[in-house]
Amino acid sequence: MSAPKPPSPPEALPPRLALQPVVRPMRGEDLDAVTAISAASFAGPWSRRAFAAELRNPHSRAWVAEAPIAAGRPAVVGMIVLWLLPPEAEIATFAVHPHWRGRGLGRALLRHALAWVCRRGDVQRVFLEVRVDNAPAQALYRAFGFVEVGRRRGYYHTPQGRIDALVMRRPCGLGSPVP
Ligand SMILES: CC(C)(COP(=O)(O)OP(=O)(O)OC[C@H]1O[C@@H](n2cnc3c(N)ncnc32)[C@H](O)[C@@H]1OP(=O)(O)O)[C@@H](O)C(=O)NCCC(=O)NCCS
Repeated sequence: MSAPKPPSPPEALPPRLALQPVVRPMRGEDLDAVTAISAASFAGPWSRRAFAAELRNPHSRAWVAEAPIAAGRPAVVGMIVLWLLPPEAEIATFAVHPHWRGRGLGRALLRHALAWVCRRGDVQRVFLEVRVDNAPAQALYRAFGFVEVGRRRGYYHTPQGRIDALVMRRPCGLGSPVP
């Protein structure tokens, strides 16, 4: 079954207008939207089944970002999934739909997830992998205090061939995740 695309931003919205998104836990009714966001964002996207499994996984936490669309109705336009492996955590997947990027939604999702995981007290470090050629994501992660701690050769399979991943880490002890 092909997932419906999230709606485009309202016509009148200037491209860089920042939004005040609502970040809330992912629910079963969000599966079509988050699958579509993943498909629009990654060469190797997650399936609907993969997201559904995360909702049942006690070691996983997932949130979505909602943005207002026509008539003030909210639409799911971003998502983040975190794996809990105390004393570590890992960002498993994270994306904003291409139509909605550059409006602060990615920052809001990352801020929410980091604040939540670092408040627990049992997680000391958060890890992630990011493509070496993914400048937007790397800029966002560095702004939040992530630093490069390793490199996985040929980690990503893409139509252009294999691409390395940077492994990045952020200690929870850095304090507030708000950049
Ligand atoms: C990475 C991603 C989630 C960012 O979401 P977003 O909503 O566009 O990000 P924001 O609008 O909140 O931007 C926050 C910061 O990210 C960085 N950033 C975002 N887009 C950028 C771009 N095109 N170029 C460079 N930096 C960029 C900037 O540091 C920006 O801060 P600024 O606005 O003060 O310059 C989004 O680009 C995305 O979904 N990309 C595809 C999937 C992906 O790469 N996920 C991460 C996998 S590791």
